[in-house]
Amino acid sequence: MNILILHGVNLNMFGRRDPAQYGVATLREINSRLVELARELKVTVGFFQTNHEGALVERIHSIPDENVQGVVINAGAWTHYSYAILDALAILRVPVVEVHFSNVHARERFRHKSVLAPACAGSIAGFGVESYLLGMRAVCGLISSLD
Ligand code: DQA
Repeated sequence: MNILILHGVNLNMFGRRDPAQYGVATLREINSRLVELARELKVTVGFFQTNHEGALVERIHSIPDENVQGVVINAGAWTHYSYAILDALAILRVPVVEVHFSNVHARERFRHKSVLAPACAGSIAGFGVESYLLGMRAVCGLISSLD
């Protein structure tokens, strides 16, 4: 089972953003935790981060040609307004789980809405690094239930 983790805009700055919202872990540390969990779950995991919306759209376009069974995505601020990323995710035939480090529902109103939600099986927000780990467990569970 191969899982792809997609990190969107500004998420390379984890560890240097507002610690009250985003803690102190860097993206590298978050990815390491995901690699550890992948070992435990006996799956493989790949990562992609970009600050360019078109690059994320093109990365999503290539997924159907790859041996990828599930996707975990934190699109950062694009979550709240990118219909281009929604349309790209909607092409996929594998489960997609949306995750957020912070509790977007307890923050500014514009963060309450995810325009990506229609293309996602579900979303997990507010648990910090654990949101990603829960997201990976969720997508693996979904893939197993499809077998
Ligand atoms: C975020 C929440 C978004 O609203 C914000 O724009 C981010 C990070 C999160 O992981 O909490 O950049 O996706």
